[in-house]
Amino acid sequence: MEYTIETASLDTLHSDCLIVGVYLNKELSTAAQTIDQNTQGLISQLLNRGDISGKVGDTLLINVVPDSQLERILLVGLGENKPLTSKIYRKTLSAAINVFKKTTIKTVVCTLADAEVIASDRQWKTRQIIEIFNDALYKFNAYLANKEVDFALEKISITAPEAELSLANTGITQGKAIAEGINLTKLLSDLPGNVCTPTYLAEQALALGEKYPSLAIHILEEVDMAELGMGALLSVSRGSRQPAKLISLNYQGGDANAKPIVLIGKGLTFDAGGISLKPGLGMDEMKYDMCGGATVLGSLLAAAEMKLPLNIVGLIPSSENMPDGDANKPGDILISMSGKTIEVLNTDAEGRLLLCDTLTYAERFNPDVVIDMATLTGACLVALGRVPSGLLGNNDDLCNALIAASETANDSLWRLPLWEEYQEQLKSNFADLANIGGKDAGTITAACFLSQFAESFNWAHLDIAGTAWRTGQNKGATGRPVPLITQYLLNRAYG
Ligand code: BES
Ligand code: MN
Ligand code: ZN
Repeated sequence: MEYTIETASLDTLHSDCLIVGVYLNKELSTAAQTIDQNTQGLISQLLNRGDISGKVGDTLLINVVPDSQLERILLVGLGENKPLTSKIYRKTLSAAINVFKKTTIKTVVCTLADAEVIASDRQWKTRQIIEIFNDALYKFNAYLANKEVDFALEKISITAPEAELSLANTGITQGKAIAEGINLTKLLSDLPGNVCTPTYLAEQALALGEKYPSLAIHILEEVDMAELGMGALLSVSRGSRQPAKLISLNYQGGDANAKPIVLIGKGLTFDAGGISLKPGLGMDEMKYDMCGGATVLGSLLAAAEMKLPLNIVGLIPSSENMPDGDANKPGDILISMSGKTIEVLNTDAEGRLLLCDTLTYAERFNPDVVIDMATLTGACLVALGRVPSGLLGNNDDLCNALIAASETANDSLWRLPLWEEYQEQLKSNFADLANIGGKDAGTITAACFLSQFAESFNWAHLDIAGTAWRTGQNKGATGRPVPLITQYLLNRAYG
């Protein structure tokens, strides 16, 4: 999709469709007023007739515009005539893009960034158009005989006044970079487990490194991990025929001596549960257990594309979790890279086994902060559903910065407590800690487990079990939390 900025006045534009906003009580946006004047009051007539009410998300496609260079006009309801909340703004954008499904419309001019949105500038408003349109346009059709796409759209022009051209252009650059990152994350996540293996993920990282010379890729093989003493991580891949990979991506966009932001993503390309086998219903969705890893790749793509002046390290521990004669068994005791021993009470709590050794490994980068992202617990779905990702961490400044970024990005987070009382639940009779904490507070005890390997740095953990993909009829990856992570990086770079 081509995205550009349009500064020319509306009456000189040619396009298949112009998108303009209308408010409740028959009030017109500035763009709608201009068009209304040029069309002998066409828009007011339709409003007077009650063909569109102006309610948030209402749409009306006017397919013929007499005596005009515009082929069509799409009216979109913006609600009350006052500054919109960012949620309402995004809702109107999704309503608008969905109208183009199954139409032949190829070129569109969108004036919706002219709407006033509370605490938002032209840059953000422009970027959101790209992010939301891109989200609607994505379709995972790699394995369909009928690869027909839902949209004929080729070019989207976003209007901006001359005075705000530079903000709008930055919005385009950022929007395109973030959209590309999200698309990579979604694609890798939607790929099935028989294609997207740890080796495949490693190859994708290497391909990313080819495309962006600012990204240095290094793949740690099982022998390398054995040398480092990653006994927890390697115990998981022992049960699989696919060799584990620890993928590392090093982006050096900042000062040579600036401490890096370390992003860690769980990369379980399929989680059958191991010997503590999962039930069959819905097990296919465990191909999504690598969404954290895919988020690291998508976020680093966006960072490299935007040439952010930061140093960022991405780490993706990747494996399958399968039942096998050599797999972890309940009761097994592992020696992690940190030296701490772990009693495996449930082989399905494998994510933390990969992450704990990766956290220990992260120490060598002398991180400014470490943020891990993982589809870690079904309990997170019970606690928070599919709206926010769970947030836990050992540093308030980092957690607050992530929450602020999540609000700007509309990629929500909810913080849960990481109080020491919960650590009790991880006590083991036979090892330094158990890998599960019983049936209560599963998301918190999983984070407690991780916290014991993150004592030497500022750390936050995002449990994305409820947000990384949609279940049911619309099953598919969401690309979350790429919007949040890229916003956090933007804030760190320029905030
Ligand atoms: N990948 C799963 C978590 C998960 C389950 C995410 C369902 C999304 C939907 C993780 O490896 C896991 O199996 N966790 C266990 C932990 C338990 C054994 C303590 C879980 O949540 O059941
Ligand atoms: Mn599991
Ligand atoms: Zn898992």
